[in-house]
Amino acid sequence: MSTTNDLRAFIAQLPKAELHVHLEGTLEPELSFALAARNGVQLGHDTPEALVAAYDFHDLPSFLAIYYKAMEVLVHEQDFYELAWAYLVKTRSQNVLYCEMFFDPQAHTGRGVAFDTVIKGIRRAQVQAAAELGVESQLIMCFLRELPAASAMETLIASLPYKHWIVGVGLDSDEKNNPPIKFAAVFARARAEGYRLTMHCDVNQQNTLVHIGQCLDVIGVDRIDHGVNALEDPALCAEIARRGLGLTVCPISNRFVVQNLTGDEIRRMLALGMKATINSDDPAYFRGYMNENLIALHEDAGFTAAEITSLVRNSFEVAWLDDRRRQHYLALLDGSGS
Ligand code: ADE
Ligand code: ZN
Repeated sequence: MSTTNDLRAFIAQLPKAELHVHLEGTLEPELSFALAARNGVQLGHDTPEALVAAYDFHDLPSFLAIYYKAMEVLVHEQDFYELAWAYLVKTRSQNVLYCEMFFDPQAHTGRGVAFDTVIKGIRRAQVQAAAELGVESQLIMCFLRELPAASAMETLIASLPYKHWIVGVGLDSDEKNNPPIKFAAVFARARAEGYRLTMHCDVNQQNTLVHIGQCLDVIGVDRIDHGVNALEDPALCAEIARRGLGLTVCPISNRFVVQNLTGDEIRRMLALGMKATINSDDPAYFRGYMNENLIALHEDAGFTAAEITSLVRNSFEVAWLDDRRRQHYLALLDGSGS
C-alpha cells in the first residue's frame, strides 16, 4: 500500500458495518431546510451553509443543545422516512453493507410526535433500502439518560408492539450525574423482553470508570458505546476483552467533543484484545461518515490497511447478527481486496 490514495481506495471498497450512528445525527442541513419549509419551522439561518457555520460544539452538552433543537423539523412519518432513507443511501455509497442505527423516541414523543409515527417512517426506509440498495439494517432504541427512569420505562412499554423491529436498547444523551444504575430496572425488563443491551460511556465523562463498571457488573451490557476511558483501568480492560464485548468508538466525534481522534487509544485496545470498532456517531454534525473516519485514522494517526481491516472485522464480529449473516459478511470481507 504505497500512497494515501491507495489507502483511500482500499477503504472505499472494503465491505463495512456501522454499529453506532444516531439517525437524528444524520440530519444534513439541506434536508433540515427542506423539512423546515414543509413543516413551517423557523431555523434561524438563511442557508444550509450558515446553519453549519453556527455548529459550535466543544463538549457533549454544547453538541446536544444543537442536536435537539434541529430535530424540531421532524414531525411526520414521511420526515422520518426521508431522514433514514438519506442515511441508508449515503452509507451504502460508502460500501457499508450492514448497520445498527440508534433512534431517540423520547426526543420526539416529548414534542408530541407519536412513537408510531417515528418508527413507521424509519422502518419503511429500512425495508426499501434492503430491497433496493442491498443494505441491511437494524434499529436500537435509545433512552435519554437525563430524563427520569420512569419515562424510559414508559418508552420501553410503548415499544413492545414493535419489538420485532427493534434489536436492542441503548442509553445516550447527557451522562453527567446520570449513571447506568439509574436505569437498572428498565434494562432488566428490556433484557427480559428479548432486547440486546448497550449503553454510552462517552469519552472523559465524570465518574466514567464507575459507569463502565456498572455497565459490566449491574446492567450486563452486550456492548459499550465509546468506552475509551476503560483503558485507565487494567481490570476493566481485561474483563471487556474476556467477555468479547464490542466497543463502538467514534474518532471524528471524539475529535469534536474531546479534541482528540483517540488513535493511540484505539491501538491500545486492539493490542489488549478488546473488540474496538469504528463508527460515525452523528455524521451530519461532525461532517464525517464511515469512510471519513477510517481515512482520518490513516492520515492523522498512521493506521495501516491491516489495522483498518482488523477494526472492520471486529464490527462484523460483534454485530447483533445471527451466525449465518455474520459468516456471510466475514466471507465478503475476506474476499475483498483486504
Ligand atoms: N446522542 C446523540 N449523539 C450523542 C453522543 N455523541 N453522546 C451521547 N448522546 C448522544
Ligand atoms: Zn453516540
